[in-house]
Amino acid sequence: MTRLGILTSGGDCPGINAVIRGAVLRGVITYGYEFVGFRDGWRGVLDRDFVPLPRHAVRGLSRLGGTVLGTSRTNPLRDGSPETLRRSLEELGVDGLVAIGGEGTLAAARELSDAGINVVGVPKTIDNDLDATDVTFGFDTAVQTATEAIDRLRTTGESHHRCMIAEVMGRNAGWIALHAGMASGAHAILIPEQRVTLEQVARWVQSAYHRGRAPLVVVAEAFVPAGREAPYSPRGLDTFGRPRLGGIGVLLEQELQHMTGIETRATVLGHIQRGGAPTATDRVLATRLGMAATASAAEGRWGTMVSLRGTNIVNVGFEAALGRLKTVPEDRYLEAAVLFG
Ligand code: F6P
Repeated sequence: MTRLGILTSGGDCPGINAVIRGAVLRGVITYGYEFVGFRDGWRGVLDRDFVPLPRHAVRGLSRLGGTVLGTSRTNPLRDGSPETLRRSLEELGVDGLVAIGGEGTLAAARELSDAGINVVGVPKTIDNDLDATDVTFGFDTAVQTATEAIDRLRTTGESHHRCMIAEVMGRNAGWIALHAGMASGAHAILIPEQRVTLEQVARWVQSAYHRGRAPLVVVAEAFVPAGREAPYSPRGLDTFGRPRLGGIGVLLEQELQHMTGIETRATVLGHIQRGGAPTATDRVLATRLGMAATASAAEGRWGTMVSLRGTNIVNVGFEAALGRLKTVPEDRYLEAAVLFG
């Protein structure tokens, strides 16, 4: 009997469990496959740490946030090798892997696939910045969560006649900021792709304030104002040397209050955007991707990842996901900017 392994690697994302459920159900129902889930990503494969995933184990999973398999940043090529991985898979009788992950995971999957290991990838990030797919699952949930939080910031801002700043996630691209900012009617949206000056932001804030509004600024974590260095991160660096969240929100709070004289408060939404149950849209997308991943394995389309193109799920090469970020195009920003201030 064919036996597939599933792993989830890198940062978690609402909808991962729905991918797992979709992959297992498709495999069990259509192909009579058996599944195991590796704990904590590639670490589970290297350490042979796994759980059986029979049909009943995935019952009700599509509405659960996080990943029931756990995740880690273990890199199979740094912390192991294609040979050690192959040995693990052979010993466990696993014929191929469904790897659910972001850029790092997909890069590793490509190298493993080049080394002859059967892998199908499922792209994952709330940031929606993978060029290989039209939309990533988890993005819709992150936008929904951010929008609900920003709506709450607005009512307290209005009561106190304050300028409220919401810092949202987006390590390399401003998709969450753009969508949550538009949905919540922000007076300014700041994204890394468009380096506007602090003076311009202050003008938008003042314009809203003088019309009797509580100015609302939505900023992506990676935004850097024009003419400035990347802000100091008050919370230091993470284990990968990246600034932790919170730098730009705090900088804007201080600088905008100073420039405009308007009392200003910043809130860093942080990992709230990654947690909780996925939206219906994300559940559907994730389920379809999981089902397609198993179908790809059944049809021998190893060395590819499943991807949304228009309304269809298709297979694309791993290289389509690597080194090619999908950033917010200028026209999308300018369209939103008509409503700023
Ligand atoms: O890439 C997804 C993401 O949520 C980014 O938006 C954010 O910068 C990063 O992960 C946070 O990573 P960690 O959970 O490792 O702090």
